[in-house]
Amino acid sequence: MSRYNIDSPEKYSQLYIESVNEPEVFWSELASNNFLWEAKWSKVLDWDFRKAKVSWFKDAKLNITINCLDRHVKNHPTKTAIIFEPNNPDEEYKSYSYSELLTEVCKMANVLKSMGVKKGDRVCIYLPMIPELAFSVLACARIGAIHSVVFAGFSSSALAARIVDCKSGIIITSDGSYRGKKILNLKKIVDEALEICKSDQKVLLVKRTNESVNINSKRDFLLEDLIVDVDNFCDAEIMDAEDPLFILYTSGSTGKPKGMVHTCAGYMVYTSFTFKNVFQYDDGDIYWCTADIGWITGHSYILYGPLSNGATTIMFEGVPSFPDYSRFWQVVEKFGVNQFYTAPTAIRALAKQGTSFLKNCDLSSLKVLGTVGEPINLEAWQWYNKYVGRSNCPIVDTWWQTETGGILISSIPKVIPDKPTFATKPFIGIQAILLDENGNELKEFNTVGKLCIQYPWPSIARTIWGDHKRYIDTYFSAFENKYFTGDGAFKDKDGNYRITGRVDDVIIVSGHNLGTAPIEDAINEHELVAESAIVGFPHQIKGNALYGFITLKQEHENIDDIKKEINLLISKKIGPIAKLDKIQMTNGLPKTRSGKIMRRILRNIASKEFDNLGDISTLLNPDVVKEIIDNSL
Ligand code: WT7
Repeated sequence: MSRYNIDSPEKYSQLYIESVNEPEVFWSELASNNFLWEAKWSKVLDWDFRKAKVSWFKDAKLNITINCLDRHVKNHPTKTAIIFEPNNPDEEYKSYSYSELLTEVCKMANVLKSMGVKKGDRVCIYLPMIPELAFSVLACARIGAIHSVVFAGFSSSALAARIVDCKSGIIITSDGSYRGKKILNLKKIVDEALEICKSDQKVLLVKRTNESVNINSKRDFLLEDLIVDVDNFCDAEIMDAEDPLFILYTSGSTGKPKGMVHTCAGYMVYTSFTFKNVFQYDDGDIYWCTADIGWITGHSYILYGPLSNGATTIMFEGVPSFPDYSRFWQVVEKFGVNQFYTAPTAIRALAKQGTSFLKNCDLSSLKVLGTVGEPINLEAWQWYNKYVGRSNCPIVDTWWQTETGGILISSIPKVIPDKPTFATKPFIGIQAILLDENGNELKEFNTVGKLCIQYPWPSIARTIWGDHKRYIDTYFSAFENKYFTGDGAFKDKDGNYRITGRVDDVIIVSGHNLGTAPIEDAINEHELVAESAIVGFPHQIKGNALYGFITLKQEHENIDDIKKEINLLISKKIGPIAKLDKIQMTNGLPKTRSGKIMRRILRNIASKEFDNLGDISTLLNPDVVKEIIDNSL
């Protein structure tokens, strides 16, 4: 990729200018020179943001797994592709060379085929961070099935909603999952989800924990039974550039999750290019992203980005605190990790434990550190820099979204200097802009505006599965002809962006994107709840935590029990990540005259900014505000 290695500030400027002045020439050359195609495109880019229409590399033919696997097997078959580090350090790690990985993927692909899966079918994957998760994802890509990975921390109802929405006919899961000291019975959750779905499904079961599970012989298939009969090779299905590669659900400001659709070619080109440059990956480096493949970070920067570059990528099954808080650093030392990519919430949790857990670990292999998922606060940044980076590693604070497929704003080691708490500069090809309420460009420095992107990049999501109108409404209607990210941001005088957070009803808790609406829907199902409003408030480790203001239908004695029931309900409907940290019972919620809940006021109360409530005289029920303040937690 040498012409496309961003190795100096001059190179960045040169490529950035090319990418903006002649985007089609730029991306066409890059795509041509760095990937294997069965057929080239007839048109590089077709787009109309007003209709939320984007297509890249029209009529091109390819298979992403040829680019991620076969071509590297040809060049360096024995090079390690994936290192699997289990939850329990006493269990042996496993590593898969490119050639072994290709075989595993082909076998899994043949298993899926034997179960009747065809190009275009949706395959729901509900697995822990075990090698079979990677095999399944890539196997789908191999045969042109559309994978929909659901994070294995989601509850049975959340899983069911996602299965129903994309009408997947098959679910790949495991008996159980190890997370620190805990074992979670995933198969049971899948059984419950399928009860809810009431549609015909097949289940492919992977063994991990070997605990006993219910087997429904008509529906459930054991991987170990099917895999013995299949071939070691499977031809790659030749895909159109714009065929869907996967669906990945993300929360929105209504109850229904949004199935973001990413397509084959553009996604491959952009995640590959950003991976190489943002992490300055050199041949032979060991790269580790601690995310789960259930999130976009894992899709783009554990699997597709690294593998398309022929990199060595670590998959970690465990958690940072098990067996103790030195786990991450032990793994860094064990494999000599060169690039380490994690989330601010993990950094804060680790920083809270002090530095003793780092002391006996050799972190000298580290060259680049990264963060993603939410704004990183200064203390956490400094701790990461000083103790993990030994003041010697650039930190890339990468801003992006499920919808963007890849990193859009980030520093680049030795090219774009990092600046604590700033994501810094738009990546090559990214035309970012800050807008004021009226949609005019904000030109002043240090003033917060709405972050938009004015021009398509190859890995932008193409639609919301089954609901293109919602795609237009959510991202392309706020400002004409622009993609609206939902985030606020400002720029310093040098053009460095700092993301300030969401400006809509999405709250980022521990780096997880949670919509308030689905949580409120879950709470409102409690028979005693009249109405509820969820807001975020600052939390030392999670970044934001959830604060629920809840009005009951009638007074009740056992408020503590009700609070517990509410959190149980949330766990069941969405998952434990969405539980409320604080619950306050109120006699009413502040509303506008048109009946809309004034979340701004509740947000300020939850954050203890009582002097900052603004004008409340126009409320329908101003009295309720004083009562809420008096009883606030
Ligand atoms: C939202 C997207 C991108 C993978 C993980 C999350 C927030 C993400 C940063 C960052 C400040 C960030 C934004 C964004 N976010 N990265 N470096 N600095 N905020 O993906 O679940 O789609 O969430 O996460 O608010 O819109 P996601």
